[in-house]
Amino acid sequence: MPRPTVALRDTTTPLTPDESAAVLALAAEAADADGSEPLSEQFRLSARSREHDGVGHLLALGPDGTLVGYAQSRSGEGPPSGELVVAPGSRRSGVGTALLARLPDGIRLWSHATGAAADAATAFARATGLVPVRSLHVMGRSLRDGTPWPAASLDPRYAVRSFEPGRDEDAWLALNAAAFAHHPEQGSLRRADLDQRMAEPWWDPAGLVLVVEAADPDVLAASHWTKVDPPDGDVGEVYVVAVSPDRQGQGLGRAVTVLGLDHLRSLGLARVVLYVDEDNVAAVRTYAALGFEDVEVHRQFARASEAGDAADQVGGVSSPAVG
Ligand SMILES: CC(C)(COP(=O)(O)OP(=O)(O)OC[C@H]1O[C@@H](n2cnc3c(N)ncnc32)[C@H](O)[C@@H]1OP(=O)(O)O)[C@@H](O)C(=O)NCCC(=O)NCCS
Repeated sequence: MPRPTVALRDTTTPLTPDESAAVLALAAEAADADGSEPLSEQFRLSARSREHDGVGHLLALGPDGTLVGYAQSRSGEGPPSGELVVAPGSRRSGVGTALLARLPDGIRLWSHATGAAADAATAFARATGLVPVRSLHVMGRSLRDGTPWPAASLDPRYAVRSFEPGRDEDAWLALNAAAFAHHPEQGSLRRADLDQRMAEPWWDPAGLVLVVEAADPDVLAASHWTKVDPPDGDVGEVYVVAVSPDRQGQGLGRAVTVLGLDHLRSLGLARVVLYVDEDNVAAVRTYAALGFEDVEVHRQFARASEAGDAADQVGGVSSPAVG
């Protein structure tokens, strides 16, 4: 097949309704063939609404004008993030390479593929000089069956209680900032961000489990913020687990994780999921030992020449939970 033509759709030449429909049809066809969605929800929504504010759409067109591939780039805070998909019938003919060449400098490209499609994405990345810079694992387990998790074991100098609005905000923010000092997204959570979350429909103080000093219950040692979103759904989430750095290595992470799982099970939910960065080895091990298994792995790639600073910049899709 001859090289495709790649056309950019942005504010000056917006995506037409027909092009938007063709992009969504191509993504759906690829999802059917691959068994995994090539575009995440935000990218699909932007293609559907023909959004151009900070969003660039790249169309790869065959000789007869048919859409054979699509890429989207999004700019905002941090480096631009992108997603790319080629029609199943047009693969291995240079379409992906042609689209990649037109994506902006510094692009961080997400792959949400699983199984054989993930192998194809990895081979494509290797062939085109992309290197993996981040892996986000979605892990999950049943709250009803599967390997039971052990009971929480806590030293008697600790006690357990739920977060109390009006009492614990500052102490919790300090614990979170200390525990995630190395993590740009989670560690920079401020009072306004916490207030925003506390105004969400899913907010439930009973779901924010605190391990405190028994002798001084205002001193927080660890916390496990669980979330049920949507609130009437049957899937809970390990949202944020934090252990005070000076108390790490005493088994508090495991204990507070278990206390949160006990809480989610007590709500009668079917499953629990969490999002964790692969390089957070301690967290991945803790969760695996508690019966969590990989549900999906999302990988982010960068051009090898631009990957140097990528490790420190975790922009792109939001990672709602940080284990
Ligand atoms: C990954 C994907 C974008 C590749 O698109 P493509 O148009 O087939 O890629 P190209 O034809 O430009 O391939 C360039 C090179 O990548 C490698 N490659 C691509 N797909 C491969 C596969 N399935 N197996 C082995 N190597 C592969 C080859 O070296 C290929 O060169 P070659 O065909 O001359 O051997 C496409 O399979 C796709 O849409 N997958 C689903 C969405 C996705 O995973 N996106 C994330 C991309 S990081």
